[in-house]
Amino acid sequence: MTDIAVLGYGTVGSGVVEVIDKNSKSIGMKAGDEIRIKYVLDLRDFPGDRVESVLVHDFDVILSDPSVRIVVEVMGGVEPAYTFVKKSLLAGKSVCTSNKELVAKHGPELISIARKKGINFLFEASVGGAIPVIRPINSSLTADAILQIKGILNGTTNYILTQMADEGWEFDKALETAQKLGYAERDPEADIEGYDACRKIAILSSLAYGRNVDFEKIYTEGISKITATDICYAKKLGCAVKLLASSEYDDGKYYAMVAPFLVRSTHPLYSVNGVYNAIFVNGESIGDVMFYGSGAGKLPTACAVVADVVDAAKHLDKHIYTFWSEEDLELTGIENATRSFFVRMSGKPEEQKDRIEAAFAGAQMLTVDEDPDGFGFVTGPVTEKEFNERLKDLTGVKGRIRFE
Ligand code: HSE
Repeated sequence: MTDIAVLGYGTVGSGVVEVIDKNSKSIGMKAGDEIRIKYVLDLRDFPGDRVESVLVHDFDVILSDPSVRIVVEVMGGVEPAYTFVKKSLLAGKSVCTSNKELVAKHGPELISIARKKGINFLFEASVGGAIPVIRPINSSLTADAILQIKGILNGTTNYILTQMADEGWEFDKALETAQKLGYAERDPEADIEGYDACRKIAILSSLAYGRNVDFEKIYTEGISKITATDICYAKKLGCAVKLLASSEYDDGKYYAMVAPFLVRSTHPLYSVNGVYNAIFVNGESIGDVMFYGSGAGKLPTACAVVADVVDAAKHLDKHIYTFWSEEDLELTGIENATRSFFVRMSGKPEEQKDRIEAAFAGAQMLTVDEDPDGFGFVTGPVTEKEFNERLKDLTGVKGRIRFE
């Protein structure tokens, strides 16, 4: 019997208990031993709930019980999760977590403690929910040099953008609906401003490139400024707007960014809709590999956490080596990245045509019925730096979206 403790009985925590209860026999067979939930930690009481008999309010009860070999941290947020996880590891207990804030901020330190203690710090559920992506990067893809990771890593924003495209809704209505359906938090900032995707790409990139990618140094732009009219232009261009998180190694330099992009219908990420996530990995020898599935949600995320518990139970006294150095990876700014841009303008195209042509030679002008007082244009490939400089020569700029 392997005793575990679950820290946090919220959405994912209750999912973990449900999955373990539902599949206890097969989980036990796969782990080689029965997994028993000895404690659930939460500040709240749950009278009549299945966890009532194992509920504790004091973390020290768990910490001081040597029979607890694995701690599941599903509280979210950096504190007190970091303190509890660090204490657990130092006490020789393996930790499995879905907490991307914790992993992005303290991942290398916590892995290093686990290594020294000969135990494990596992975090498959922190990126892409049920999608296996961390384990493949750490094992199946280790023979190759990873050159690029690009993905839709946030289900909330992908749902909002999909609804805007399918229903013609403005951003606020799509966000409100996402909140009603439980796809978006009451405070949606981390999702809609791209911070959640930023942490996830930092985790994947750190594992892929072997050094710590500091999420605070990643250029990050969210989707809150995308409008229904932008989506009309996107459709006219045969594109979808997607919040992409990406990192790339090119000619000795590393780049990373999170921003909304116009994705053409021929791109594999174009048809990733709703709350689904997809992650596209490109390696020097393997070429493209793509991972797709439920990127969030109670049971999909819980299944990824419990799979880590199974792995931890199979390796109770053996560290599964993960290479994520504490040394920071230097990121190069995005100003020299070259791409086309879509720009939205107010006014009439005839009045601005010459100035636009002077700034962006060969720009393609376009209009949509839904924007009678404005128009758009698409530039040829240009660096971010040049684009921003040349844009200053124009008046009436309402927004811009990069092309993937
Ligand atoms: N808010 C996150 C998302 C949850 O929408 O992807 C999963 O990390």
